[in-house]
Amino acid sequence: MTAAPTRQRVLSGMRPTGPLHLGHYLGALKNWVTMQDTHDCFFMSADLHALSTSYDDTGGVRAARRVNLAEWIACGVDPARAVVFEQSRVAEHSELHVILSMITPLSWLERVPTYKEQQENLSHKDLSTYGFLGYPLLQSADIILYRAHAVPVGQDQLPHLELTRELVRRFHHLYSCQVFPEPEAILSPVPKLSGLDGRKMSKSYNNALMLGDSKEDVKKKVLAAPTDPQRIKRTDPGNPEVCNIYAWHKALSALPVVEEVAAGCRSAGIGCVDCKKKLLVAMDAILDPVREKRAELVNNTALDDILVEGNRRARTVAHETMEMVRDAVKL
Ligand code: TRP
Ligand code: SF4
Repeated sequence: MTAAPTRQRVLSGMRPTGPLHLGHYLGALKNWVTMQDTHDCFFMSADLHALSTSYDDTGGVRAARRVNLAEWIACGVDPARAVVFEQSRVAEHSELHVILSMITPLSWLERVPTYKEQQENLSHKDLSTYGFLGYPLLQSADIILYRAHAVPVGQDQLPHLELTRELVRRFHHLYSCQVFPEPEAILSPVPKLSGLDGRKMSKSYNNALMLGDSKEDVKKKVLAAPTDPQRIKRTDPGNPEVCNIYAWHKALSALPVVEEVAAGCRSAGIGCVDCKKKLLVAMDAILDPVREKRAELVNNTALDDILVEGNRRARTVAHETMEMVRDAVKL
């Protein structure tokens, strides 16, 4: 008998800043779900990271964390196959962060592009804090604490992965050891979809389909969304390439539907309302089961049990790694 090959370990996380939308599902969660078949998966609610920007208004973090965890599971994250846990409940994240902080040159953190960008984007907030500068360092601690080989992330997170890799090399060099794999980024195969109005999908623009939206809400949002602005009358032929509804079809609908819609649009064979109704079929197929499962889980103590177990399993690995780290550092 041959032993089962050991799977590569993956860690990913999301900050609990609010309820999730279809963009989170397509851009991240769907990928997490398929990875459960091939990798040893750790999925974390990065609640400490949420504090980096909402330290002065922490009231929403706990509720968002709970809702997000329910949403992950509703989307197919399976606590029996993946470790689903809460960052702040595994104290080793903070411990490793402190140790890494000793070997991290300030200049490495100052040059991470998200640092200045976020400070500019959120200029109404005072982000001149120690914790905010250390945000990517905490993320590095998250990743290497589980000795992860790979990290599914969006494009914007690549500099954080690069920093992690540099820190791993520095740690190994300084302490003459080999504790951590150098983690690779796994970019999600799905291109970023815009919101229904063509702007970045965001709850605050009200252009996103939230995983918790009712069927009625989804329908209203889709029917109200702009289409090819040149297509004014039903008899005007349209150009699907400039229409955001078509971009959504390409992401969600089956290929024959996508082709039918494109041809129908160009020949004015179908109207925008018909086209949107076809899109709604694909959206409902994803969202109907998620909505139900999400609602069922949020207020259920079963979710608490899942987290107790997930946090425990995360702690076990974190504890092992910290033994190795203290050994290497000779603490
Ligand atoms: N910084 C990530 C984001 O904003 C969230 C995150 C925190 C994370 N720790 C992580 C992602 C570890 C991957 C691995 O999306
Ligand atoms: Fe867009 Fe569809 Fe209308 Fe064409 S028919 S403009 S693709 S909504």
